[in-house]
Amino acid sequence: MKKTYLLTPGPTPIPENVLALSAKPILHHRTPQFVKLMEDVKVQLKYVFQTKNDVLLLASTGTGAMDAAVTNLFKKGDTVITLNAGKFGERWTKIAKAYGLNPVEIKVEPGQSVTVGQVEQALNKNPNTRGVLFQASETSTGVAMPTREICDLVRKRENCISVVDAITALGVFDLRMDEWGIDVLITGSQKALMLPPGLACISLSDKAWKWSESSDIPKFYFDLAKERKALAKGQTAWTPAVSIIIGLQETLKMIKDEGLENVFKRHETLARATRAGIKALGLEMLAKDSPSIAMTAVLVPSEIKDGKGIPKTMRDKYGVTIAGGQDELEGKIFRLTHFGYVDKFDILIGIGALELTLKDLGYTKFEFGAGTGAVLKALASS
Ligand SMILES: Cc1ncc(COP(=O)(O)O)c(C=O)c1O
Repeated sequence: MKKTYLLTPGPTPIPENVLALSAKPILHHRTPQFVKLMEDVKVQLKYVFQTKNDVLLLASTGTGAMDAAVTNLFKKGDTVITLNAGKFGERWTKIAKAYGLNPVEIKVEPGQSVTVGQVEQALNKNPNTRGVLFQASETSTGVAMPTREICDLVRKRENCISVVDAITALGVFDLRMDEWGIDVLITGSQKALMLPPGLACISLSDKAWKWSESSDIPKFYFDLAKERKALAKGQTAWTPAVSIIIGLQETLKMIKDEGLENVFKRHETLARATRAGIKALGLEMLAKDSPSIAMTAVLVPSEIKDGKGIPKTMRDKYGVTIAGGQDELEGKIFRLTHFGYVDKFDILIGIGALELTLKDLGYTKFEFGAGTGAVLKALASS
């Protein structure tokens, strides 16, 4: 028998009470029962998004909401600034190009965050910019962006909106949509919302809704105005991801019961403990200056020639699934995740399996228990 554990940046583990709900008979979506469910979910989502505006639900993964943001808010030929600190920032550029926008990309080295100064400079150089599109947490490198400061820059410009992919940030750390003037905020179900993949959430500020009025990009399925109209009646425009929305009601309740502040604190504690373990093993993080508390991207030590062997051994031999690096970072980093339905003992499991794996692969610069001991100390002192 081998027990398995999921410590990837999505899908993340699903709470047992939520899994149990999926065994219940399916609900039809054009019924008063579904409307009642949506009315509750609508209110609770505003709490997690920290907004008074509606949060729309799309039956898609997170990328669907990124796509919808571009097609619903901009016009062909619009200049937008995209922040590329990794694979998901690059996705903004690709989507913008696909729909005929003119993306001005700020690209930084893997592990670095884009600075507010860089964004300000790009905005000054491109005064006709209609949007700044970026990640609050760049999952491919484990970097956090200065979301509040960037949105602060943007909100002062009448002709520009901020579009924030918070797919591994919302429900992980503080993102005050209304207070910070975030114009578009996006997440996906399989992340800190602790659900299976297949549901995307997107909220627009009043300013962003104004942008949508002048958009000329063809759209049909992802038509946010249609979704808003449907949501006013407790519905979605098309058949919703009913089972995931049933689970969402439960996970939103869990978040509310724990309290957003405590959810953020828990994630901070778990990130600190993970990093104490990594350091005690003599390993280095990829993100030096601005790590996201959602995940820890670790450089493969030079003693290990086959970097891809780390996630493979952890998964196949020890049953602990973590993520490796993507594209140019393949084989160079591995990523331990600590958000969603995760608590302190999950961190011990992750670091424990890592210790065994490192020894298996020939990295011997530590004594067994160095990492897990450091995790325990960090947890005990928090
Ligand atoms: C920051 C970020 N943006 C976008 C995506 C894409 O989301 P999806 O795979 O749900 O389409 C991911 C997925 O991991 C992500 O982490």
